[in-house]
Amino acid sequence: MIFDTHAHYDNPSFDEDRDGLLASLSDAGIGRVVNVGASLESTKRTLKLMEEHSFIYGAAGVHPSECGEITEQDMVWLESVCDREKLVAIGEIGLDYYWKEPNPALQKRWFVRQLAMARNVHLPVIVHSRDAAKETLDIMKAEKSGDMGGVIHCFSYSREIAGEYLAMGFYLGIGGVSTFQNARQIKEVIAYAPLDRLVLETDCPYLAPVPYRGKRNSSLYLPLIIDAIAQIKGVETEQVEKQTWENGNKLFRLPQARTIAQRHLLSRN
Ligand code: NI
Repeated sequence: MIFDTHAHYDNPSFDEDRDGLLASLSDAGIGRVVNVGASLESTKRTLKLMEEHSFIYGAAGVHPSECGEITEQDMVWLESVCDREKLVAIGEIGLDYYWKEPNPALQKRWFVRQLAMARNVHLPVIVHSRDAAKETLDIMKAEKSGDMGGVIHCFSYSREIAGEYLAMGFYLGIGGVSTFQNARQIKEVIAYAPLDRLVLETDCPYLAPVPYRGKRNSSLYLPLIIDAIAQIKGVETEQVEKQTWENGNKLFRLPQARTIAQRHLLSRN
């Protein structure tokens, strides 16, 4: 089965056909999806999706580009939803210096604050980092983020940076960019990182793989990412699918064959 570790099915671009699309995923071999909050509103919509669909799990967090007007009160609310059943991570959080809006100081403040929340509630983190390689790594080291663990989503940095995160125990999120013709760097990273540290992600509706580049993405295209990884690593696609499924479950502490109730007993006691 296929694990989509990063999707945004609450996005308005799915409003027209969301139910039908989500209903079709299981027949296509998509076993689990983590819907990732990008703002307070999208975290609310994520909570709803994970209540409505057995295979959808959720992450709660505020994306760096969305943190301009949030308050400490919002953080209190965010933390209050973390004990929900099926809420498996804090994210997506991080730094985006491609869009320097809001300003870097503010982005850093809420990144650090949400890392602290993850520590408090004992959940892994989903990290968004764009054009901020050094700053992200410095903060994550200073905050001892390896204690929480998590994934660097849509990994876009060098092999050396990948090595740093692997040493901290993090997973690397691999999606549509790995199929782009000009994506030399991520192909090098895929070749370099052990298969047991890679997870599949769509970031849908964004970042559709070739030949759907520029169109609306969905979990249905993940076999193309599996093919890309298998080709780069010179292994069978079945092995990539099986290993990344196991990795996704480990990352979000979802035992393969256990019930949700048992998972909570395991992780909270
Ligand atoms: Ni995302």
